[in-house]
Amino acid sequence: MQRVAEEARRAGKSIGCVPTMGALHEGHLSLIRRSRAENDLVVMTLFVNPIQFDRKDDLARYPRDLDRDARLAGEAGVDIIYSPGVGEMYPDGYATYVTMEGLADRWEGATRPGHFRGVATVCTKLFTACRPHRAYFGQKDYQQSLVVRRLVADLNLGFEIVVLPTVREADGLALSSRNVLLSAEERRQASVLFRSLSVAQAAVKRGERDAEKVRAGIEAQIRSAPLAVVDYVAVCDPDTLDALTRIAVRAVALVAARFGATRLIDNVLLEP
Ligand code: PAF
Repeated sequence: MQRVAEEARRAGKSIGCVPTMGALHEGHLSLIRRSRAENDLVVMTLFVNPIQFDRKDDLARYPRDLDRDARLAGEAGVDIIYSPGVGEMYPDGYATYVTMEGLADRWEGATRPGHFRGVATVCTKLFTACRPHRAYFGQKDYQQSLVVRRLVADLNLGFEIVVLPTVREADGLALSSRNVLLSAEERRQASVLFRSLSVAQAAVKRGERDAEKVRAGIEAQIRSAPLAVVDYVAVCDPDTLDALTRIAVRAVALVAARFGATRLIDNVLLEP
């Protein structure tokens, strides 16, 4: 991958990288299409990264279908799928990890210990392999997009991170590779996540500035779905992810909840 990337760079080509764990959906495809429009060479990485999973059962259940992914990626404009094996990424004796302080410790970081250490480590390795000019991420993983931006800035990796809006089902559920793991009833109830976030968004637009009131409103609505088990609901500064007491300018509402064995996350920006 490094050799191909170096050759493309020497030929003056720009490289767009779309990191994925496969099980592609319309959200991934929107990233690929944007990368296709903005770069000469589009590389999609496909690697189910074991070190970012805090639960063995979640890793074991993670959906995989390389043939389908390859077809969809090709149709959307991917030139190269870079899909290393686990032994290639983390051979015996592997000992180097990227950890980030502050931003990566809260919310997803606090509820999934080691998650962002795994994400930061694998992204550093994937970026080193693909040598991109731009890399594409979805807003659905809001905290991840901030962590990756910080990583690229702190390690002087010198390329652009592009974050694109969350793609949603008709009832608002954010597209996620894990949605296929939901039972019919869990899937029906999971739409409460976006519904509660939309109510919060409307309240803030109407003039609500009390962040705790907004946060509690979201949480109460999610808890009204009998199958939902809330991991966290937060209303925070959209850049630092510090919890807010007042919504003065912009804020982001983050939610994480489990429906059965499947954990989902979502977020919206709150703008007065
Ligand atoms: O968002 C994902 O699919 C993963 O966290 C990523 C960025 C590909 C790293 O494994």
